[in-house]
Amino acid sequence: FRNSTVRHSGYQYNPVNRMSPPSLLVLYGSQTGTAQDTAERIGRQAKRRWLQVRVEALDKYNVANLIAESLVVFVCATTGQGDPPDNMKKFWRFLFRRSLPASSLCRLDCAVLGLGDSSYPKFNFIAKKLHKRLAQLGASTLLPLGLADDQHDLGPDGVIDPWLSAFWDRVLTLYPPPRGQEPLREDELLPPRFVFHFLDDVTENLTIQSEALDKEQLRPSSQVHPFMARVVSNQRVTHASHFQDVRHIEFDTTGSDIEYSPGDVVMIRPNNCSENVEQVCQILRLDPTRQFILRPAEGETVPAHLPQPCTLGYLLESFLDIGCVPRRSFFELLSCFATNELETEKLTEFCSAEGQDELFTYCNRPRRTAVEVLVDFPHTTADITVDYLLDLFPEIQPRSFSIASSLLAYPNRIHILIAVVQYKTILKKPRKGLCSTWLASLDPTQGEVCVPLWTKKGIMSFPRDMSSVVIMVGPGTGVAPFRSALQERTAQGKTGNVLFFGCRSSSKDFYCQRDWEEMERAGQLTLFTAFSRDQEDKVYVQHRVKEQAALLWDLITNRNGHFYIAGNSKQMPAAVCDALKEVFQSEGGLSATQAEDMFDAMERTGHFQSETWA
Ligand code: 2AM
Repeated sequence: FRNSTVRHSGYQYNPVNRMSPPSLLVLYGSQTGTAQDTAERIGRQAKRRWLQVRVEALDKYNVANLIAESLVVFVCATTGQGDPPDNMKKFWRFLFRRSLPASSLCRLDCAVLGLGDSSYPKFNFIAKKLHKRLAQLGASTLLPLGLADDQHDLGPDGVIDPWLSAFWDRVLTLYPPPRGQEPLREDELLPPRFVFHFLDDVTENLTIQSEALDKEQLRPSSQVHPFMARVVSNQRVTHASHFQDVRHIEFDTTGSDIEYSPGDVVMIRPNNCSENVEQVCQILRLDPTRQFILRPAEGETVPAHLPQPCTLGYLLESFLDIGCVPRRSFFELLSCFATNELETEKLTEFCSAEGQDELFTYCNRPRRTAVEVLVDFPHTTADITVDYLLDLFPEIQPRSFSIASSLLAYPNRIHILIAVVQYKTILKKPRKGLCSTWLASLDPTQGEVCVPLWTKKGIMSFPRDMSSVVIMVGPGTGVAPFRSALQERTAQGKTGNVLFFGCRSSSKDFYCQRDWEEMERAGQLTLFTAFSRDQEDKVYVQHRVKEQAALLWDLITNRNGHFYIAGNSKQMPAAVCDALKEVFQSEGGLSATQAEDMFDAMERTGHFQSETWA
């Protein structure tokens, strides 16, 4: 800390000095990074309470060791339709093995914190199931299950904060710290998780330690080794006068091992915009050309997909999410650097439980970005050193997009259909979605541009047999996975394809119109459209579904019809499900309960599938 006036804890854990409390293990299953952030926050809080702590993704942890653990917190998100996040799938399969004896975890004290969104039907399903299963295996639960909710007025922290405070009360009662050792204050700086060794600073030969790569990491075209796919085309598919910019983008995957089926998704890791990179360099006094090697502190591992050596420019452009809406941990770290009175006061407030409303109003409601916050705290940023960059900003998370093409129709290609996310808040500058804005900005006519991507199994799958019938409801960009399915099925000679498509106007946002028309002409597709704003009254896909009651009842009951919904998760999916149940009642003469039962049975057997997104 050269020339720094920052308070430093001088933190050094010394287990010999104290009665030995158990080492706390924080295991997380995280899809978008929130559960990871929360787990890391618990890790920092544990260090401040002088506990030895490890924080790990569930699938990185050797689950067989769980029987030897005595204190574990699980922080688990629920994704999709009640699914576990990708980085806990292996663990999930292991935990539900029938062969596990009922008392396997009888030495374990544990607590489960779930992260979910109550606007989805299976709210916090994974945390609830995990909590039950741990108890079944003999673990003692330290406190009731925490169910954080994105829809809470204060965001997930509205539940997490009181839950954590109850958790620490419980842990410190069970394992009291030795006398005289008070928890560290929240504004005392912990050591950074990584130390930067600049290549222009060192004379000795630095060897690069690479982590032992597990199988998943060795798999080509994965999160660790994305394939750099060339952008073949990038076209706006909405009329210039339409409010929304929607893009049809094609990638070339020639030379990769990439395979996919209809219903699968492509994962893309975007870059930050250069304006933000330049601004962070300026604020934190960083030279983007400087090369460094990252050395982890004890218990940390360097992320496998960060190249070593690396330049500060690459780190800021392609690795750290400097344009995110910062989480509370960001303010907690800033507060450790604050020396200016006004800034200290503001940051202390933002980090306190009472200040969460204020923080939400300042940060989340207007969707203020991390860069913009740094600009607001000029005295505090003056003291931040480069070693804290990875503590300050989270990693850029990959985004998933439904694949809109079939390899049978377009070998070595991936097509996507994306809406460019842009909206207004009280702030002057419009808010922009990182990935869609970046993708929309790529112009293959100006030279070669490549995008790091890999594919992943999706949650929808389509029937294989030739005689199968599919009924697909995909308004807006929800139609993307159905374009993939239709291309594949028509290439295989499968008929029995019904599509319900909805958009605002036949002349402005009728995506893939030409594709559908060709398929209709060839007798491969039956298309029903709902143009909501081409007439006085709103017409939606669910209205068309009800109009086609007789046809749908026949296809579902006599022709093994499979029914699919994809699109925005606000009201549309529920409205379409209701319409379908009405069809069962009107055409099949079923009671409301019988219609529910029939719907549930279709869901259980994969005859009803949906993929919705916020
Ligand atoms: P709107 O914007 O005119 O209300 C794709 O976005 C299409 O979905 C648009 O035509 C949009 O109509 C429509 N849409 C909006 N809300 C919907 C709902 N609750 N159910 C079905 N479609 C809806």
